Amino acid sequence: MDILVTVHSYLRWVVLVLGIIALFKASKGKTAKSPFTESDRKIGLFFMISCHTQLLIGLILYFTSPFGIQAFSLGMKEVMGNAVYRKIAVEHVFMMIIALVLITMGYSKNKKDIPALQKHKNAFLFFGLGILLILAGIPWNRM
Ligand code: HEM
Repeated sequence: MDILVTVHSYLRWVVLVLGIIALFKASKGKTAKSPFTESDRKIGLFFMISCHTQLLIGLILYFTSPFGIQAFSLGMKEVMGNAVYRKIAVEHVFMMIIALVLITMGYSKNKKDIPALQKHKNAFLFFGLGILLILAGIPWNRM
């Protein structure tokens, strides 16, 4: 299971780099009012896939890692009362799932036949909010 924690931990950088590139491209496209290209769509797609991969690994960890099993054995009251457990078992999972929903919404909205400028705005808003939540939800002190 250690290997999954390591993969989940390193993948955060892939998520963040893809997210920042997608956000940068959306901001540039919005300002320059440029067409929404296939490369704009693909960077959003890869960003979304990297987040969904984290969800999959995260769910496995939640139910199988020593940390997850211990959190389950404690019960809700103890988990909420312990800052370390609360941070991962509640705040991390909750924030990341909301971020994932926002990022998926941003990508899906842009599949519709809407003006390019609106697509850049959607990507900027939904990916931007998603990245902020991801940054806030990462347990940086665990590394
Ligand atoms: C973009 C989304 C996500 C990112 C960037 C992310 C990142 C991280 C990082 C950096 C850690 C610390 C790893 C370490 O100790 O070295 C971690 C731990 C953990 N994450 Fe996530 N995560 C994401 C989504 C999720 C989701 C959606 C879930 C659950 C549904 C989840 C469940 C967990 C669990 C259970 C741990 C503790 C693992 C352990 O120590 O056994 N993560 N995550």
